[in-house]
Amino acid sequence: MPLLGVNIDHIASVRQLRKGTTPDPLEAARACIKAGADSIVVHLREDRRHINDADVKKLRAGIRTKLNLEMSIDPQIVRVALRIKPDQATLVPERRQELTTEGGLDVIGQALRVQKTIRSLEAGGIPVSIFIDPDIKQIKRAREIGAQRIELHTGAFALADNAASRAKELRILRAAAVYARKTGFEIFAGHGLDYDNIKQIKRIKEIEEYNIGYSIICRALFVGLEKAVRQMKRSIGGLPSLSEPE
Ligand code: PXP
Repeated sequence: MPLLGVNIDHIASVRQLRKGTTPDPLEAARACIKAGADSIVVHLREDRRHINDADVKKLRAGIRTKLNLEMSIDPQIVRVALRIKPDQATLVPERRQELTTEGGLDVIGQALRVQKTIRSLEAGGIPVSIFIDPDIKQIKRAREIGAQRIELHTGAFALADNAASRAKELRILRAAAVYARKTGFEIFAGHGLDYDNIKQIKRIKEIEEYNIGYSIICRALFVGLEKAVRQMKRSIGGLPSLSEPE
């Protein structure tokens, strides 16, 4: 059964609106775990616009469920990760002006820097995943530099605004997942996934874990966080389906 990682960055985004102490990401993480989340994902951005170092430390100490730290390959952030020791690091590209991560990491363009980052995190005992576009050339290069896990960027699929382009993006994702599996990768996927588009993407059986944030937090505003997580867990096929809707 596929696993669900819940990204709780936007719990911290709401807190930062008043720069206070609530809502608390640790309390949110515990609610997600209670509802069936298999991992908790946070992105420690260089500008610390939502999650900050203290949050990651508190999460590390406060939960036993897998903590997946999304991070850039900036050496300063790598040092923070090596101190905090999440259960997994996911390397993402980062631009200060962007609203959210916009594209996959360019493994071809910066192979040596990515390889050095993977090596230093792994030497510190942290398994590494890299967030890349569903592009065979990028996946091939990722393998050559020693990556063992990839998270396929589902943004182009999620943003497709008509059935034909969505079907095309889905085919691209499927081909990438099949290739990555043959190459021996553990395969995760995420970005822009919601309760609707998950129905199509979950047919790609090679994907072992989905990392989903925004759509779950949005739904949580209306139904509560636990229910929103349970519904997504059921949507990815990670729980038996109910005979009646919740
Ligand atoms: N995976 C990665 C690597 C991401 O950068 C993000 C966004 O922080 C997500 C998954 C979750 O994306 P969304 O919030 O659109 O569900």
